[in-house]
Amino acid sequence: MSQHSADPAPNTALATVAAHRDWWREAVIYQVYPRSFADGNGDGMGDLEGVRSRLPYLRDLGVDAVWLSPFYASPQADAGYDVADYRAVDPMFGNLLDADALIRDAHGLGLRIIVDLVPNHSSDQYEWFRRALAEGPGSPLRERYHFRPGKGENGELPPNDWESVFGGPAWTRVTEPDGTPGEWYLHLFAPEQPDFNWDHPAVGDEFRSILRFWLDMGVDGFRIDVAHGLVKAEGLPDLGTHDQLKLLGNDVMPFFDQDGVHAIYRQWRTILDEYAGERIFVAEAWTPTVERTANYVRPDELHQAFNFQYLSTDWDAAELRAVIERTLEAMRPVGAPATWVLSNHDVTRHATRFANPPGLGTQIRTAGDRELGLRRARAATLLMLALPGSAYIYQGEELGLPDVVDLPDEVRQDPAYFRGAGQDGFRDGCRVPIPWTRSGSSYGFGTGGSWLPQPAGWGDLSVEAQQGVAGSTLELYRSALAARREQPGLGAGDSVEWLRAPEGVLAFRRGGFVCVANTSGESVALPAYGRVLLASAEVTEADGEAKVPADTTVWWTVD
Ligand code: GLC
Repeated sequence: MSQHSADPAPNTALATVAAHRDWWREAVIYQVYPRSFADGNGDGMGDLEGVRSRLPYLRDLGVDAVWLSPFYASPQADAGYDVADYRAVDPMFGNLLDADALIRDAHGLGLRIIVDLVPNHSSDQYEWFRRALAEGPGSPLRERYHFRPGKGENGELPPNDWESVFGGPAWTRVTEPDGTPGEWYLHLFAPEQPDFNWDHPAVGDEFRSILRFWLDMGVDGFRIDVAHGLVKAEGLPDLGTHDQLKLLGNDVMPFFDQDGVHAIYRQWRTILDEYAGERIFVAEAWTPTVERTANYVRPDELHQAFNFQYLSTDWDAAELRAVIERTLEAMRPVGAPATWVLSNHDVTRHATRFANPPGLGTQIRTAGDRELGLRRARAATLLMLALPGSAYIYQGEELGLPDVVDLPDEVRQDPAYFRGAGQDGFRDGCRVPIPWTRSGSSYGFGTGGSWLPQPAGWGDLSVEAQQGVAGSTLELYRSALAARREQPGLGAGDSVEWLRAPEGVLAFRRGGFVCVANTSGESVALPAYGRVLLASAEVTEADGEAKVPADTTVWWTVD
């Protein structure tokens, strides 16, 4: 636990970062999954003190900001995305003083801190929900959630046909205080995650207060969990179809991407703008199209939204070009930066996605060709970091970590895994703790083992094994992030100039900068555009021609 004692000075200033206007328009934001980053107290579980101790590593990596997945008080039914107290740190991660120390230290190093906000649902252990259950039908607290009588003769059927994202019905029937089977409540995720009723004014009041609590703590922004889910269609209408998971992200649903959510974000924006410094909101909004995603980042709403269409695109030049163009076109009219992401805590790591044949989606259970996957992952990262806008990196991708596809059933913790049909049942594979050292207890993650087992050979991928090693994935990320800071052509912007390129190859120019990504599976000869700044694999040049090998991205500076 930290020895830090609270300093009366408000923790709002970034000590070493000169005011960089619009920093978020080109920021590289690193996602820390606190359970799996670094364990400061040796209990096998990552914590805030662990994160704090590794902040210098993140500064040296060259990222601008750190987004922390939830560390709030939680029974951990969904790894902290089930919050029981939005204003407290779970003891397994530390306490509020640790959070304060972490924010201060980050600011001192020039790093910004973004925290996760989970407004769609609470934990079933949140005080409102516990009281709603205990007080029985008619309790005013039930109105803050979606409680309904069941259908059927004795109320034995769920109130509508909605399915949980994690599989099974989105409704659970409660046992009333008198012991009889009673009403049902809505949970789009696990039963331990009841959905709030955002039509109730107390819910909005509570979240505005929670925003202020963390803004006063000095955070630089919020990642909004399930930002597309808060408002449900009037009357909670049936969908009239089963297998609803297939529709997620492909269609507007009565529980997702309803237009009513935008009024909430416009209100939140006015709160954020009251605070000094440029603080930001980023939406986790799964919508059918990038055009609908753009609605979340209109000038008076949120700043950024994750680009899941990009994350879901295979390693294919034509498909990548299409999604890049469409994204830039969708963001231009609203004036928001495009964002790019390849991995996060909910999907198979991109080194493993690209090791497998295309078309398998973002949850993959086979290791595939690891060498090929890593080669493509490195190329995909260089492409992503060359695009205009802001990019997200998920912890461990800078080490080229693959997904751990062979975790034994008995160690798995993902609630979706246990609900069978869930879309995301294999998320533990990207959550295995990070290797910091070649050997030793949990490869430097901590002194007390690791909550998910790390595979053999994990130490070969460690920070220690890659640091200072020319050509390592870690050094590739460091060089890319350093170049991004130095090259005026990189970072913010809303367009690229496409260059002619052979089939399977993407080539574009941004001012004095050219990026070429060869997805074709074969080496190609191209004009040498200028001086090679960086490449994900070796490029040879002769007589004004460059040979770009298969699955390689090259950056050039051009006069
Ligand atoms: C988001 C989170 C995911 C979580 C879900 C429910 O999609 O990223 O990890 O399970 O919301 O909160």
